[in-house]
Amino acid sequence: MTTIKNICCIGAGYVGGPTMAIIAQKCPDIKVTVVDINEKRIAAWNDEDVNKIPIYEPGLSEIVKEAKGRNLFFSTDVDSAIDNAEMIFISVNTPTKTYGMGKGMAADLKYIELCARQIARVAKNDKIVVEKSTLPVRTAQALKDILENTGNGVDFQILSNPEFLAEGTAVEDLNNPDRVLIGGDIDTAEGKKAVQSLVDIYSNWVPAEHILTTNIWSSELSKLTANAFLAQRVSSINAMSELCEKTGANVNEVAKAVGMDSRIGSKFLQSSVGFGGSCFQKDILNLVYIAKSFGLNEVADFWEQVIILNDHQKRRFAANIVKTLFNTVSGKKITILGWAFKKDTNDTRESAAIYVSDYLLNEQAEIVVYDPKVTAEQIYADLDYLGTRPDSENRSLVKVVNTAEEACKDSHAVAVLTEWDEFKELDWKKIYDDMLKPAFLFDGRRLLDRKTKEELGFEFYAIGS
Ligand code: NAD
Ligand code: UGA
Repeated sequence: MTTIKNICCIGAGYVGGPTMAIIAQKCPDIKVTVVDINEKRIAAWNDEDVNKIPIYEPGLSEIVKEAKGRNLFFSTDVDSAIDNAEMIFISVNTPTKTYGMGKGMAADLKYIELCARQIARVAKNDKIVVEKSTLPVRTAQALKDILENTGNGVDFQILSNPEFLAEGTAVEDLNNPDRVLIGGDIDTAEGKKAVQSLVDIYSNWVPAEHILTTNIWSSELSKLTANAFLAQRVSSINAMSELCEKTGANVNEVAKAVGMDSRIGSKFLQSSVGFGGSCFQKDILNLVYIAKSFGLNEVADFWEQVIILNDHQKRRFAANIVKTLFNTVSGKKITILGWAFKKDTNDTRESAAIYVSDYLLNEQAEIVVYDPKVTAEQIYADLDYLGTRPDSENRSLVKVVNTAEEACKDSHAVAVLTEWDEFKELDWKKIYDDMLKPAFLFDGRRLLDRKTKEELGFEFYAIGS
């Protein structure tokens, strides 16, 4: 059995940071070093003030505080960390390709390949390499080819250990995972040994019945499948939300009635302005690409529809704002409450707020944004990235402010796009009084109570009723 004493994790992002913090906390005898080429990010993880760590995640700063400097380290010295570790997690980003073959669909594996080449170059003794990033099925084969062909003759075992944490609840998800999935080369003694060494790490806090071992391809594909199923549920209920709006049905009531069927279950049936986040869209597109590459066009079309519906949901929410405001928002002030793709995270990747705002800006609206955790710099960067208009125009048309009240003052309409708890508790009477009339309120998260808002005088629209 290989007893692991030193772990290296390449990639100090939303996955690498929290997962390694928990491993370090639960396994005080293992030295965990998280490395990244992004110096600013590593400096932030190393900040004396743990509240300045680069990722906002409830409960995370306390864990980092407990383990950092004891057995949890953050560094930009990737080579040393690889050299010293018996087990190396690859937790780098795998975004959708923006160029060349598979552009807009396939996963861009260049960061993964760079890691593999670096590990191969540096490793002087046997290593277990763990795929933590979400990867197309059969990536382990490519990793193996690179490691074996460019390495120093040492033995590499490759494991797939996809991460299922959701942002905003990462600490809870890592502490009590529904399952930990470990795929490996279970047909060989060395492969079995490698799998067992990772099982042993998780066994420090995860009950045995929640640790699942499979062949490596099943593990890689299960991760894409899980995200596709989750996103598909959101698109399914969002499709129904539009039908509810036409028929007088209420999507929350429908979701409750449907979800009480134990075969269906109640989770992930919250209708919204559309799912965001760095993974659902990217992973489904990747799945579609893989299916197409095998000629499985019906399979590809089935999953692509989840994305088509999601894009439609964001667009129709924005279009409804324009329509409701007498078919023009030109020169009108529209308040966006919430920019993060969900509550309790500062992550904005693929957030619906970006696309709704972009649509409204195309209609010449003036936008004022408030989000409790997202910086103005990030909001402008998200809009600039779309390349819809000159960056300078984004700065002149979009204002970012520090309170919800300030954001709503003198505006024609308020749109709630992230379900932050604090939005429920705002002084909605004051907000109403300070807005232009009629005061329109668009709830893209079904967060607010319709009755009380209508009593205050708002023209209230909630997705799905
Ligand atoms: P991220 O962008 O937050 O972090 C990735 C980090 O890797 C970046 O800081 C980047 O600088 C670093 N990096 C890239 N190439 C490197 C290299 N060659 N050497 C050193 N560092 C390098 O991404 P993330 O959200 O943490 O996601 C990482 C992976 O995990 C992705 O494959 C994603 O699909 C998957 N995943 C993400 C989540 C999530 O909630 N964000 C959940 C499950 C799985
Ligand atoms: C998702 C999965 O839930 C994780 O298991 C997975 O590890 C992760 O993707 C990943 O691979 O990156 P995450 O994107 O962080 O996690 O957050 P979710 O809670 O899944 O929410 C995704 C989006 O769907 C958010 O915009 C959320 O608001 C939206 N959503 C979610 C709904 O609109 N309705 C719901 O009922 C649930």
